[in-house]
Amino acid sequence: MATNHKLIIGNCMSMEEIPDKAAHLMVTSPPYFNAPFDYKGLFKDYGQYLGVLRYFAKETYRVLQDGRIAVLNIDDMLIDGEKFPIGYLYEQK
Ligand SMILES: C[S@@+](CC[C@H](N)C(=O)[O-])C[C@H]1O[C@@H](n2cnc3c(N)ncnc32)[C@H](O)[C@@H]1O
Repeated sequence: MATNHKLIIGNCMSMEEIPDKAAHLMVTSPPYFNAPFDYKGLFKDYGQYLGVLRYFAKETYRVLQDGRIAVLNIDDMLIDGEKFPIGYLYEQK
């Protein structure tokens, strides 16, 4: 069976190229907020980082068909010795 593939270089916070409920699967490995080795200065603070993830989570929910799967490769964030469970963000309404 032939399949078609389209590569979009865009911003995950606003995926207007993708219609509502058009996707069957979303897999991502987003930047960590405070990984010491990369993305220096990408996020002004942890609040802004969470804002990016919230926009991205909303968009993911919009583009996925009902009952489909979102795969998020991410660790809890360690900030000043305190662990923040990022995954929980996606279980809240
Ligand atoms: C941990 S890396 C994942 C790399 C990818 N899994 C790979 O193997 O190349 C996170 C990626 O997210 C990208 N990124 C950061 N902010 C983004 C955004 N708002 N929209 C889309 N991608 C973003 C970064 O440029 C980086 O390539």
